[in-house]
Amino acid sequence: TLTQAEKAAVVAIWTKVATQADAIGAESLERLFSSYPQTKTYFPHFDLSQGSAQLRGHGSKVMNAIGEAVKYVDDIRGALAKLSELHAYILRVDPVNFKLLSHCILCSVAARYPNDFTPEVHAAWDKFLSSVSSVLTEKYR
Ligand code: HEM
Repeated sequence: TLTQAEKAAVVAIWTKVATQADAIGAESLERLFSSYPQTKTYFPHFDLSQGSAQLRGHGSKVMNAIGEAVKYVDDIRGALAKLSELHAYILRVDPVNFKLLSHCILCSVAARYPNDFTPEVHAAWDKFLSSVSSVLTEKYR
């Protein structure tokens, strides 16, 4: 669980990210698919070319879910319960991929807000994304 200081850091960076959430979501997916091409196998039905409507639409959905997790940071499990079931039971995304996407989201945020991305914010945002990933992968057991 995040400390009060970490929660404050997450909220602070999110207030910036939220203003460009769609672009950051799409960029994160572009980073994911170009750095870790094996992740594309989960999206055979998508047009994954850079800037495609599906890529942008999906990036927007992912960031919206991250926003819900920020809003309900004390109950991420409750906030993402439906998504957790979707990823585990229906999509069957291998948990390793959540680390890869989290890394790409982190890079996209850092690249866009270099001055806000202090070591403290980096650590808090990383821990927050790990919590989101834990929730989304815990139903596998
Ligand atoms: C769908 C969020 C990680 C693969 C979705 C949806 C959301 C979402 C909001 C749409 C659900 C709906 O339409 O009801 C997230 C979040 C993640 C994450 C917040 C982690 C931070 C991943 C990873 C993969 C993945 C790592 C695989 C590499 C998919 C696929 C779909 C999906 C294949 C269905 C796409 C479609 O057919 O529209 N995810 N996801 N997700 N996710 Fe994730």
